[in-house]
Amino acid sequence: MSNPPLRLGVLGSGKGSNFEAIVRAIRSNSLNATIHLVLSDNPAARILEVARSLGIPAEALPPSNFRTKLEPEIETAAATRLAAAGVELVVLAGYMRLIKAPLLNRFPGRIVNIHPSLLPSFPGLEAWKQAWNAKVPTTGCTVHWVDAGMDTGKIIAQATVPVLESDTPETLHARIQTAEHQLYPEAIAKIEAAR
Ligand code: GRF
Repeated sequence: MSNPPLRLGVLGSGKGSNFEAIVRAIRSNSLNATIHLVLSDNPAARILEVARSLGIPAEALPPSNFRTKLEPEIETAAATRLAAAGVELVVLAGYMRLIKAPLLNRFPGRIVNIHPSLLPSFPGLEAWKQAWNAKVPTTGCTVHWVDAGMDTGKIIAQATVPVLESDTPETLHARIQTAEHQLYPEAIAKIEAAR
C-alpha cells in the first residue's frame, strides 16, 4: 500500500450498514482509505450516530422542501463541506435523493453509489421488492458511478443473489445487503488501486 489512503466522504439517509462495512474494510486493511466526513439529509439517521461513535465528523444537512433532491444552495453547501474536508471520492451509502449539478460539478466522475438490484433492471425505490414482485430467479446489487440520472451511471461492479421460493421482500433484501457489504468495499478498493 504505497498510495496515501483515498479520502472518502459519505452521504447516507438511513441505517448506514454499508458505511459500517466500509469502515470494517478500512480497519482490516483491505481498503486503503480514510473517511473524513459523513453527511445526512436525515438528522435522525443511524448513520450519523454510528459515525460519531467512531469519531468520524458527521453532520445533518438543513431541512429541504423537496423530497427527491436537495435545494441547490443546500447541495452547494454540502459540496463545499466535502471539498473542504479534502474528500476525493464521494460514497453514497443509502442516500435517498438524486445528485444534482452542485455535487456533480464539484466531484466530476468521483461519486459512487450502491443499488440493490442488477442494474439496469429495477432502478428506483425498493428495488428488491420490484425484483421479488417480478419473480425473477436472480437479482443482486450494483456499484456504479453517479450521473444526473436515477441509477443510470456506468457500472463498476455487480454481485448476484438468488431469489428463493421461500423469500419475502424482507428476507431477499437482507440477503442483498449481505452481498452489498462485500461488494461495496471491494469496488472502492479497486477504484483506490486504479488511481
Ligand atoms: C442499501 O440497500 C443500498 O443498496 C440502497 O440503500 C440501502 C442502504 O442501506 N441504496 P444502509 O443504510 O447502507 O444500511
